[in-house]
Amino acid sequence: MASNSRTLSAAADAGAPAPDNQWSSRLTFILAAVGSAVGLGNVWKFPYIVGENGGGAFVLVYLLCIALIGIPVLTAEILAGRRGGASPIRSFGIMAERDGHSRNWQAIGWLGGLCAFLILSFYSVVAGWALAYLGYAVGGDLSAAGGADDVGQAMGTLFETLLASPAALVGGHTIVMAITILIVASGVRGGLEKAIRWMVPGIFAILAGLVLYAATASGEFGRAAHFMFAPDFSALNWDAVLVALGHAFFTLSIGMTAMMAYGAHLQKDAALGSSAVAIAGLDTLVALMAGLAIFPIVFAAGLEPAAGPGLVFVTLPIAFADIPGGTIVATLFFLFLAVAALSSTISVLEPVVEYLEERTPLTRRGAALASGGAIWLLGIGCALSFNVAGDIRLWDHNLFDLLDFLTSAILLPLGGLLIALYVGYVLPERAVRAELAGIGPRGYAVLRGLLRYVAPLGIATVFVYGLM
Ligand code: PFF
Repeated sequence: MASNSRTLSAAADAGAPAPDNQWSSRLTFILAAVGSAVGLGNVWKFPYIVGENGGGAFVLVYLLCIALIGIPVLTAEILAGRRGGASPIRSFGIMAERDGHSRNWQAIGWLGGLCAFLILSFYSVVAGWALAYLGYAVGGDLSAAGGADDVGQAMGTLFETLLASPAALVGGHTIVMAITILIVASGVRGGLEKAIRWMVPGIFAILAGLVLYAATASGEFGRAAHFMFAPDFSALNWDAVLVALGHAFFTLSIGMTAMMAYGAHLQKDAALGSSAVAIAGLDTLVALMAGLAIFPIVFAAGLEPAAGPGLVFVTLPIAFADIPGGTIVATLFFLFLAVAALSSTISVLEPVVEYLEERTPLTRRGAALASGGAIWLLGIGCALSFNVAGDIRLWDHNLFDLLDFLTSAILLPLGGLLIALYVGYVLPERAVRAELAGIGPRGYAVLRGLLRYVAPLGIATVFVYGLM
């Protein structure tokens, strides 16, 4: 299995049929990458940070961050993945050596692999909340809480009870990891591609239904659209700019080799720049649509948009209790959230599995089980940090918060910065041009400028801020 991608690219170059661990088409690759990008970041986090940071002006800054930093780094990451042709953790070392540079560039891969490991351990716990809420919606717990005298308090208690239960949190996390391991163990064509083919269209279909509902039934669509798109710059501060930039990384799944792994399975002749633009565009569309689905429902129930992380798990269920057909809407919403999270978790496990597959005698199944099992163990620590292990503090954070902080504030920006620098300065120009055939000299010059100057400066700012 080891040097698979390299031999495969050679086979594809020679016009051979696409092999088993290559995406069957560029469209499938785009779908998979969109599946990775679209997740809890778009549906859980984006709406609440928009709510907390005042709405329209924040959205504008976020869009600029995606365009000027997100898309160039995403392009660089996919490019490096395809160019390297090995598992992403090893690709940088192999490429650097091939081009006469130090093998130590492989550190970017190690950093990314570590980041994948840590992100998945806590992300899977939040994905477990989505599954729990799907269960609550179907089982009638949400409508029961909705019948309480004080609905707000009942929904708050439901969420607190979930967080206080080690069994519920570990159970949700275990189901998420088990599904993730099963899909990844089945390979690129047999597992990832099959899952993605129904997951991503499903995500868009449910979301479109929710937006349509919000637009027609809530009566507050106009207010939500105004909140999200009419910029009020007095509500914007420097902190908000940095939140927007950090989120651009997380939401595009960049800085930690997931997109490299997906890029490595892309055919050599598939256009890369336009793929990155399509992926970022669709991810942004989902984030905006999620806002347009959530805020009208929140406003219609007379609630505040700035509820923070509880927006989706407390505020939104309060609103669901108040609207006609709330149980169905709630079920669809949490199904959407769970599927979106799972199409992201598989992309985080993939680079770790590919590394083990290349470097150890483990089969793909064994590698998926070993790495997924280790992540599962660490995730149990994250789940327990909401209850029985809440008092265990490392640098003043519990384990969950520590991993969230370490990855978003340090590892993702650092990984993104190094990838931008590597592709901007170290990778030979002819290699970059060869990978980007088709974007034209002007497009190339723009991308190079963004990778060499704009992205490193912007990322360095987030990095410094994260450590302050
Ligand atoms: N992009 C995903 C989201 O917005 O939920 C999260 C994520 C997936 C981050 C994969 C990083 C990653 F490698």
